[in-house]
Amino acid sequence: MADQWVRLELDLTTCPVQRFERYLEACRVAGIRLTTLAALGDTPDHRRMLYELNKECSADIPDRGEFYSFDEYVQQRIEVPSYDPRGIVIALDGDTWMGMSASSKHSGFVFNEMTGVRAGYRGRGISVAMKAFGLSFAELCGVTAVRTFHHPANANAIAMNRTMGYVDAEWEL
Ligand SMILES: CC(C)(COP(=O)(O)OP(=O)(O)OC[C@H]1O[C@@H](n2cnc3c(N)ncnc32)[C@H](O)[C@@H]1OP(=O)(O)O)[C@@H](O)C(=O)NCCC(=O)NCCS
Repeated sequence: MADQWVRLELDLTTCPVQRFERYLEACRVAGIRLTTLAALGDTPDHRRMLYELNKECSADIPDRGEFYSFDEYVQQRIEVPSYDPRGIVIALDGDTWMGMSASSKHSGFVFNEMTGVRAGYRGRGISVAMKAFGLSFAELCGVTAVRTFHHPANANAIAMNRTMGYVDAEWEL
């Protein structure tokens, strides 16, 4: 399977970020608040909420298989050197966490690990808005490249990234 992943990269030196303004504005108008886990507080309760949201959205990733237990999630996604709560974007409708876009820091790039929107909120530009909001994390890390990869059957996610300007790229997983 590994060779079939669709590897994508966004170059922030050439990406016209103004193109994302309409997605951010649509969120504002709809009352959807974008923030980060760092701003909300990287607490045990919030880690559990992040896990539940990630688990729910991951159920729609083709061939994802069984999701981590909470302990595995913390061990493999949170208690790792690349984790930074400033890279975890959360979208809220009132108090409801309905979207997340998690990026981690690496040498020379940030990696978008997972973007997910609860089913009832899809198709409204929220994923693009979250990912656009999260680009400031790349700036914080002092890098100009954002990478991600997807299962080739995950058409929505691939289309979402291409909409943002991600292009196919050759890098090793
Ligand atoms: C992929 C996912 C995050 C997209 O979230 P979303 O908020 O519905 O996406 P958006 O409304 O922001 O769509 C952004 C762009 O993606 C494309 N897109 C999204 N859904 C699409 C669909 N069903 N068909 C075609 N294109 C689609 C469009 O180009 C769209 O841009 P446009 O509205 O300006 O045309 C969402 O479907 C999801 O949570 N899926 C399950 C989890 C997952 O697979 N995550 C990716 C792996 S990390």
